[in-house]
Amino acid sequence: MCALGWLAVASLCLGTLWAVPAKERRKVDKPRADLTPYENLDLDNYDLTMDNYGEILDLSNYEELYDYGDLVPKIEVGTLAPRPKDPQTLPELGETTAGTPKPQPPAPIPRQGPPCCQLCLCLGSSVYCDDAGLERIPALPADTAYLYARFNRIGAVRAGDFTGLEKLKRIDLSSNSISWAHADAFRLLPSLQELLLPQNLLTALPELPRSIVRLDARLNRIPSAGLRPEAFRDLKQLQFLHLSDNQLDFIPVPLPESLRSLHLQNNNIQTMHEDTFCDSQDLGQIRRALEDIRLDGNPINLSLFPNAFFCLPRLPTGRFS
Ligand SMILES: *[C@@H]1O[C@H](CO)[C@@H](O)[C@H](O)[C@H]1NC(C)=O
Repeated sequence: MCALGWLAVASLCLGTLWAVPAKERRKVDKPRADLTPYENLDLDNYDLTMDNYGEILDLSNYEELYDYGDLVPKIEVGTLAPRPKDPQTLPELGETTAGTPKPQPPAPIPRQGPPCCQLCLCLGSSVYCDDAGLERIPALPADTAYLYARFNRIGAVRAGDFTGLEKLKRIDLSSNSISWAHADAFRLLPSLQELLLPQNLLTALPELPRSIVRLDARLNRIPSAGLRPEAFRDLKQLQFLHLSDNQLDFIPVPLPESLRSLHLQNNNIQTMHEDTFCDSQDLGQIRRALEDIRLDGNPINLSLFPNAFFCLPRLPTGRFS
């Protein structure tokens, strides 16, 4: 796919088969026009029942829909999409005879040059590397805004893996084998809003940039010692903090006022302070945003803290008995 121009890649995707090798495609026959590319790829291989709160987050799909839509007027699907058996336009996928010089790809739309994703599909500013057998983060085009590298075997995130990717908004590394991430790997990304790391092997939470809106590190092995003290205090944009199914002993405090959803179910939380959510010195306080707290699946008896929830619009889910 490297050798193909960006235009050819895009037209392949939009035109015929999404250009993803058949073995990598799931049961989705063709992209549904009413869905974003993310949702199309998502239809089969992502467990939406697990926790799809984020999908209704206003920012999560809108931007991408825009990126995708931006492509459409530039590409005449019917005329540019190559026929599947035409080796002139499909040098990588077609059966080229040995010795035949590689045909020149069509001239790309002037841009930074075609993104070079050996195992990935680059579509606009999105890079799709799901289920591609990756063992490390691949080199990414400089304008990457959305990275999907789910269901791979990535074991670590190194310091330089995302260096210079100033437009990167979402990183989805769900279902890999990540046990370690360098402190600077994510912290220096100025646009990062969503970091999705569920179902990995992390024992410590990586440092986060101030721009982060949604952090999902469910289904890891993070103990409370794996969180820096006051790790979330300065994250004034943070709305979704999902750390369920880890090994936390405490509710991390302080929680920023921006927080809307705190999922800590299935940890080892046994106790909390009266001031964890609400300021006991300010009985007039209302935390309207924080309406979704899950503490079920923890040994904590929430009835022991009757004054801890007065500022919340809703009681946490959990054991009150
Ligand atoms: C939880 O706390 C309440 C209030 O102190 C108490 O009545 C109840 O017995 C406790 N439940 C358990 C299972 O310890």
